[in-house]
Amino acid sequence: MQRTFILLKPDCVQRRLMGRVISRFEEKGLNIVAMKMLRITPELAKQHYAEHVEKSWYGALEAFITGGPVVAAIVEGLDAIRVVRNMLGATSGLDAPAGTIRGDFSGSRQMNLVHGSDGPEAAEREMALYFEESEICGYQPTITPWLRASDES
Ligand code: TYD
Ligand code: MG
Repeated sequence: MQRTFILLKPDCVQRRLMGRVISRFEEKGLNIVAMKMLRITPELAKQHYAEHVEKSWYGALEAFITGGPVVAAIVEGLDAIRVVRNMLGATSGLDAPAGTIRGDFSGSRQMNLVHGSDGPEAAEREMALYFEESEICGYQPTITPWLRASDES
């Protein structure tokens, strides 16, 4: 089992797509184990996007990501980091294939609706950035035997 961090960005909230996006993760069989709405401060944005702070487009990204409420969540499942990234599609909604979240709902490189951790180190760092351990509510869904075979783990 693996956990990854997702963030429904301000465009997702403003466009009333939160429910549809969360439904996709639920329908896939992923387990949502933490979730909260918050407003990202410039300080948090710089920590979240530390690898991008020096980029020419960072200022515009910070203005966007701090420009409205977001929803932070932790989702759990087999290979959850890779599975979620595949569900998001390429960074730009113009490149992401149809059938992916960005491919279906976004026509923008910046306003691409959802963030997902890009690897195990990023997932650990981002989960810790947004959540206390006590805010994570792990549980075993009773439907688990109908989501995958018992030897798939
Ligand atoms: P990046 O980590 O490259 O993409 P991803 O979210 O797919 O891991 O970039 C982080 C975010 O920065 C991206 O989701 C959208 C934004 N961004 C821009 O605004 N302009 C750009 O040129 C790029 C590459 C990204
Ligand atoms: Mg990235």
